Amino acid sequence: MLFCRESLRFLMSLVGMRGLVAGASGLASLFRRGRFYCCSRGGGMGTRAKLAKRALETDMPVMVQIQELMRGTKEAISLAQGVVYWPPPEQALEKVKELVWDPSISKYGADEGLPELRQALIEKLRRENNLNKSAVMVTAGANQAFVNVVLTLCDPGDSVVMFAPYYFNAYMSFQMTGITNILVGPTDPKTLQPDAGKSFVTCFAKVKQPLEKTLSQDPIPKLVTVVNPGNPSGAYIPEPLLVKLSDLCKRAGVWFVVDNTYEYFMYDGMKHSCIEDNHIVNLFSFSKAYGMMGWRVGYIAYPEAVDGLAAQLLKVQDNIPICASIISQHLALRSLEVGSEWVRDRVQNLVRSRDILTKALAPLGKENVRGGQGAIYLWAKLPEKFSDDYEIVRWLVRKHHVVIIPGSASGSPGYVRISFGGLKEADCEVAAYRLKKGLEELVKDGMVE
Ligand SMILES: Cc1ncc(COP(=O)(O)O)c(C=O)c1O
Repeated sequence: MLFCRESLRFLMSLVGMRGLVAGASGLASLFRRGRFYCCSRGGGMGTRAKLAKRALETDMPVMVQIQELMRGTKEAISLAQGVVYWPPPEQALEKVKELVWDPSISKYGADEGLPELRQALIEKLRRENNLNKSAVMVTAGANQAFVNVVLTLCDPGDSVVMFAPYYFNAYMSFQMTGITNILVGPTDPKTLQPDAGKSFVTCFAKVKQPLEKTLSQDPIPKLVTVVNPGNPSGAYIPEPLLVKLSDLCKRAGVWFVVDNTYEYFMYDGMKHSCIEDNHIVNLFSFSKAYGMMGWRVGYIAYPEAVDGLAAQLLKVQDNIPICASIISQHLALRSLEVGSEWVRDRVQNLVRSRDILTKALAPLGKENVRGGQGAIYLWAKLPEKFSDDYEIVRWLVRKHHVVIIPGSASGSPGYVRISFGGLKEADCEVAAYRLKKGLEELVKDGMVE
């Protein structure tokens, strides 16, 4: 029987939460064993016993914890959240402004998305992503797209494969849907790309074996998932590696789910690519590209030829959002009309912020700063003696008023994620100054108060 981290965490939380009362904000952060734990207002042992295991055993979202932390330090500047600083295209906003009085905006729309948006997306997938056989479902963001896909493809008790450092929300989607066996594989320490060949996959029991073997053994995993380019690593998966992973999945009869949220966020002349086949599902988002985080629009590009897939996806969609917000879908359509060059121009401006923050991480040693080929993230290893990343994040906020994300949230303790998308250059300079000062102090004197 596998010794599962989720079960351990659940037991720990039951024992540890006894008698703890939530704070006035409704969420109280509690620091234990190197982590922040939160409990809901009024929660005691009796109340918790009635809550669903699927929720209790799911990690507390790291962003909720970070927001809580920031509330206590007003002057803190954030390099934490994965956001961009730009708003949606002005032309698109102007057009949508006129639509608010149209009665159709206030009605439900087709579950799978506005027909004109889906048509525009199918053309975009052909033109930009070389995806010619994919059907499209519009969702309330890529996170909801991922949940739809997991609910459609996986059953409780299934196993799935991801690579650390992984995208924390994807991990939580698995936990939440009853997938008890999340197999976490390694990435190459230098490139941070999934290690597909000689890799081993751990089931918290440290079973060492190549991915190919893991995919051929009972219980055969239902899906393998990657983010390209990566969150939290900022590493990009070149097409040959994407094809290799896909081939391994295909041979084993396993789904391959690729999150392309950062498709336009590529630097240094590198090019993002997508692949398609009947076992591949591609996910996309309008959030970062078009500065539409709060409008909540993403989409699933799935193989049209697979019998029943569209119908099952529709069941999930109808029970979660019914449809993505109609006004948001109109903004997505108008933004698509503005075009991807608009996005690429803004993305290129991030190179400067990436460089500023790379320099700020210098106290950790050049060899310990990785990623940043794509997406909006740098990934850095903390000195061995300060491997408690949660504690260091807390200290940096408290003492130096700068916020980053602990690597533990992505299955990689002893690391941190730094986002370079959310601040304009001048603010980024301020954040970088604080971060550098904090890291210099950390390395030299430790976490002095
Ligand atoms: C890899 C990845 N997928 C999905 C999302 C969520 O995107 P959306 O806002 O479209 O739900 C994010 C946001 O940080 C992300 O980094």
